[in-house]
Amino acid sequence: MRRIWQATMIALARRDALTDFMQSWRATSNLSRRYVAGTTVEDAVSRAQALWQDQSLRASLFYLGEYVTDPAVIAETVKQKIAVGEALAAADLDVHVSVDSTQIGQMIDAASARDNAERIATGLRSVLKAQSPERIAALMFDMEDASVVDDTIALHDRLADQGLPVALTLQAYLKRTESDLRRQIARGGKVRLVKGAFVADDDIAFTSRAAIKANSRRLIDLMFSANARDAGFYPIVATHDDRIQDHALACARENGWTADQFEFEMLLGVRGALAQRRALDGWRVRLYTPFGRDWWPYAVRRIGENPANAWLLARSLVS
Ligand code: FDA
Repeated sequence: MRRIWQATMIALARRDALTDFMQSWRATSNLSRRYVAGTTVEDAVSRAQALWQDQSLRASLFYLGEYVTDPAVIAETVKQKIAVGEALAAADLDVHVSVDSTQIGQMIDAASARDNAERIATGLRSVLKAQSPERIAALMFDMEDASVVDDTIALHDRLADQGLPVALTLQAYLKRTESDLRRQIARGGKVRLVKGAFVADDDIAFTSRAAIKANSRRLIDLMFSANARDAGFYPIVATHDDRIQDHALACARENGWTADQFEFEMLLGVRGALAQRRALDGWRVRLYTPFGRDWWPYAVRRIGENPANAWLLARSLVS
């Protein structure tokens, strides 16, 4: 049932006509307000500033858009990612920006995605020089459906080899992730582990919630191993599942990880009290903070993660 709900929401996220309609319809604004910081760089950075000052929560800013094929939209996306990095540095916040490879050219060809990713990461590195050393900088590659995993990892690794500040998302629902993760640990990289917002068949993916959770725990054991710590690996545990977060904390304590050697990441608008509690307990917590006009595909995927969110969708549609 949950899988059908999620697959339906993913399908809705990809309907262009519905996207145009929902994004121009004022009645849906409570949906966008819940998950999205606003439309402009200024909106996004002022939300990041408030999160940091009021709640000690860090942010990773994400200019919205996915599976983009229009060169003009890709160019605007690159411009916005660089601009938000500059604005974060000017506000003395972490220069942390998330990107989907399919929003910067991967749908056209690998070379344009690579050039654009290099421009953004180089931009982040240049503004970082003026920043205080405790600030964290990264161009975080989000991970989309299984067809783009190889390309996204190759993109990340190429930039990492150039010494650019990058990080990579891996998904526990995919069976290949254990070997991808082992390679990133050996490289001393930064990996954000998520369960996965996509569905795939059981030849490549774990399909039950129980199996995905069990794999998340196994992967977290690897991320917090003594080997990983010695390699300089930086684990990012991105989940709203408090039991999985507790599991990560137990592994961290067991293997002597300190609070500045890893972080939790959660989504703006989801389980805010849990994020606050972790930060009050002294752990690093970051909120993935989207901004921009193209919010419907993102919001509907969030709705799909929890059937209980159906009421949120229904309330917006009937209001
Ligand atoms: P899980 O679904 O197990 O739920 C745990 C608890 O949180 C439950 O109580 C549940 O009700 C609540 N909850 C979870 N999501 C909710 C929501 N949207 N609204 C209300 N309550 C909710 N995926 C991907 O494929 N590629 C990516 O790049 C990313 N990036 C990413 C970054 C960050 C920072 C996060 C937190 C997540 C992602 N994801 C992602 C999404 C991820 O794969 C996954 O779909 C969601 O995080 C849901 O799984 P959880 O482990 O968080 O909670």
